[in-house]
Amino acid sequence: MAGSEALIAALEAGLGDGVRVQRVPCVGRCDRAPVAVVRQYTVDNATAETVKSAVDAGQFEQPMPQDSIDYEAYRADGGYALYERLLAGDISGDDIIKTLDGTQLRGLGGAGFPVGRKWSILRDQPAPRMCAINIDEGEPGTFKDRYYMLSDPHRFLEGMLIAAKVIGIDACYIYIRDEYPSVIQNLKNAVDDLVIKSGYELPPIEIRRGAGAYICGEESAMIESIEGKRGMPRLRPPYVAQVGLFGHPTLEHNCESLFWIRDVIEKGSEWFDSQGRNGRKGVRSFSVSGRVNKPGVHLAPAGITIKELIEEYCGGMLDGHQFYGYFPGGASGGILPARLGDIPLDFDTLQEYGCFIGSAAVVVLSDQDSAKQAALNSMKFFAHESCGQCTPCRVGCEKAVSIMQGGEWDIEQLQDLSTVMVDASICGLGQAAPNPILSVIKYFPHELGIEEEQ
Ligand SMILES: Cc1cc2nc3c(=O)[nH]c(=O)nc-3n(C[C@H](O)[C@H](O)[C@H](O)COP(=O)(O)O)c2cc1C
Ligand code: SF4
Repeated sequence: MAGSEALIAALEAGLGDGVRVQRVPCVGRCDRAPVAVVRQYTVDNATAETVKSAVDAGQFEQPMPQDSIDYEAYRADGGYALYERLLAGDISGDDIIKTLDGTQLRGLGGAGFPVGRKWSILRDQPAPRMCAINIDEGEPGTFKDRYYMLSDPHRFLEGMLIAAKVIGIDACYIYIRDEYPSVIQNLKNAVDDLVIKSGYELPPIEIRRGAGAYICGEESAMIESIEGKRGMPRLRPPYVAQVGLFGHPTLEHNCESLFWIRDVIEKGSEWFDSQGRNGRKGVRSFSVSGRVNKPGVHLAPAGITIKELIEEYCGGMLDGHQFYGYFPGGASGGILPARLGDIPLDFDTLQEYGCFIGSAAVVVLSDQDSAKQAALNSMKFFAHESCGQCTPCRVGCEKAVSIMQGGEWDIEQLQDLSTVMVDASICGLGQAAPNPILSVIKYFPHELGIEEEQ
């Protein structure tokens, strides 16, 4: 949508033989598209000229954030006081779980499982217990984790330590995609500061780098990857809460789920829940990209509609662009048309439309875009990222791409293929991959040359 094809063509023509131009599916910066990465240096809103200048200047490092809240600043603002109250017994693990059970804080990595319930399940498992934090952030359209881990890493670390203490965790593993070198360094610095300056008796905290695969964000594939194996999802049951990292019960969380723990406990469930809108509760960090004036991470009420989000948080549509449709939950969450722009965006509100909010990655399409083309692009991504373990997904994604890029869609065949993929794939990648196809058939039939259903 932002012209990366033209950029690639210009770079291939203009950079010379010594530079290899590689297409990559996702670098976690949809709000600055098109993006080029020169070794580790990210060129936002890239043009052939700006990329060439970075190459010529030998600019290869990703700069560290200048405004990250460090250990001293975090402490000065009351940081780690809650953790110390927990260590001192001034607040109990039961109190914390009770507050979490009373809020709408749900897992923010995509599946939305209630956080308090997950902690209770883990507490009932036999020791030793592990914690595995997911900062793989591979869903196209999502970049909120990068934002929080660069701006306020200690808030997340305090949430992780509180979870570790309440549940009785023996070791914490943090898995970060390698496309985020500054996030890795920022978290390493934060963990080092915590170890050296706090004086706490901490569980071992290990930071592991991912290697650029969307599937490694799926929780059991991530665990395989941390264990040093190829990242492929496990069959369940047993669930990772029972048999997870190194065979031990494992608390697996998206980093943002833990980021909110301190605020929810200190300010109360009422504070968190009261921020919802349109009958929903809580807040949501929307990663917004596409045809809006202010793409970026927008902290907004859960239940806000896309129209409200665009107008109140994103500065409206870009000049010359009319709102046409949107991906409410990244590449896998389906596509909705503008006429369904008043649905509250939250867990459980989009299923009836064949969509889901996932990690709240919203991509806004305009009248200059094609939902059919966007669906094809998503399916190419899934075909590239399928781990290949099960046939419905491995063959299904490839087959869907070949049908979709043939021009006229064979709708019956695509629907049949989608049913097999949804019903028979092992993990969420294959099960959700058909969502964009089904959305186009249902909501954008005019692009396929068929009459709209009433
Ligand atoms: C294909 C696939 C990719 C996923 N990628 C991520 C990811 O990058 N980050 C993440 O937190 N969760 C991701 N998830 C969801 C995780 O499997 C898991 O539900 C989540 O990390 C649980 O943490 P939470 O309860 O805090 O949300 C992915 C799921 C699937 C099926
Ligand atoms: S659904 Fe796809 S990604 Fe998931 S296990 Fe099967 S082949 Fe791998």
